[in-house]
Amino acid sequence: MTFLFNSDAKRGAVFSQAFASALPDIPFRMDAATVDPDAVRYLLTWTTPADLARYRNLDILFSIGAGVDQLDLAAIPRHVKVVRMVEDGIVRMMQEYVLLAALALHRNLPAYLDRQRQGLWSPLPQMQAQDRRIGILGLGMLAEAVLERLKPFGFPLAGWSRSPRAMEGVICHHGAAGLATMLAQTDILVCLLPLTAETRGFLDAALFAKLPHGAALIHVGRGPQLDQAALLAALDSGHIAAAMIDVTDPEPLPADHPLWRHPKIILTPHIASVTQPESAARAVIDNIRLHLSGRDPIGLIDRSRGY
Ligand code: NDP
Ligand code: OXD
Repeated sequence: MTFLFNSDAKRGAVFSQAFASALPDIPFRMDAATVDPDAVRYLLTWTTPADLARYRNLDILFSIGAGVDQLDLAAIPRHVKVVRMVEDGIVRMMQEYVLLAALALHRNLPAYLDRQRQGLWSPLPQMQAQDRRIGILGLGMLAEAVLERLKPFGFPLAGWSRSPRAMEGVICHHGAAGLATMLAQTDILVCLLPLTAETRGFLDAALFAKLPHGAALIHVGRGPQLDQAALLAALDSGHIAAAMIDVTDPEPLPADHPLWRHPKIILTPHIASVTQPESAARAVIDNIRLHLSGRDPIGLIDRSRGY
């Protein structure tokens, strides 16, 4: 029974040490070329390896990230469980990033950065937090943690999911009707949806039109969810006041892409949240123990939903 680690060596060294002390009976390997493929029961990877079929006895494929859209699910045999990364480091970093972005947009930072570049000393009217409504698309693990962090600031909070959810201090919407209701009452929209066939191209002109004039966008889901041309048009018309974008399509974004230079956009290179090897190793070890005791791992994805 072998664990095969298919990611960078630096993180691998941390995992290797954690496995040696917590699961000494499970050999930890990073050398796919020399491993006995029939011994591999667990594989941790970002993308689906082209030679996945050689691991005939694979039980679990762990994604090293919270998302699984980068995996070719159709190429993974049905009996293999696919597990996304659920670990404290990812959660904490996403809380930090969305809080940073929400406060930046609430306090008009993109406009002030633009004025700074022009040497313009020009205060803007400032809305109070209790009047700035934040709505999150997706009410999953990350959105729930982010909402907890936002609560002390006094923003009215809402969220939207596929199935009905209930969270204290958050107005929860779901389904098509719930989406329109939430959008009409949102000043800062946060996208924390997984990328699936249903959410590809979701942030488009029609959706932006349902937001109040002057709303702002924080996009931390996946690049292909955003119609970038529609966002640029909405920013230019003033309907969207500003945006903080962490994910683009493609990644990396070409140097001459207009998103880089738009004065109403703050752009970061997909760093909102990054898997932290120490806490990720603990999470994977806990999941292997769950699996060995016959229980489902935490973060097991539902292939029919794609997340
Ligand atoms: P979860 O699977 O825990 O939650 C997903 C949420 O989205 C659920 O509430 C789900 O609804 C909702 N949802 C999914 N599809 C739809 C739909 N079609 N309509 C309405 N709601 C939908 O995911 P996480 O919170 O862990 O992560 C979300 C995403 O964040 C990841 O998939 C990844 O793409 C992105 N991410 C980005 C990072 C970055 O650095 N920028 C880092 C980590 C993650 P329901 O509750 O009904 O199932
Ligand atoms: C992830 C990511 O999915 O880094 O974890 O985006």
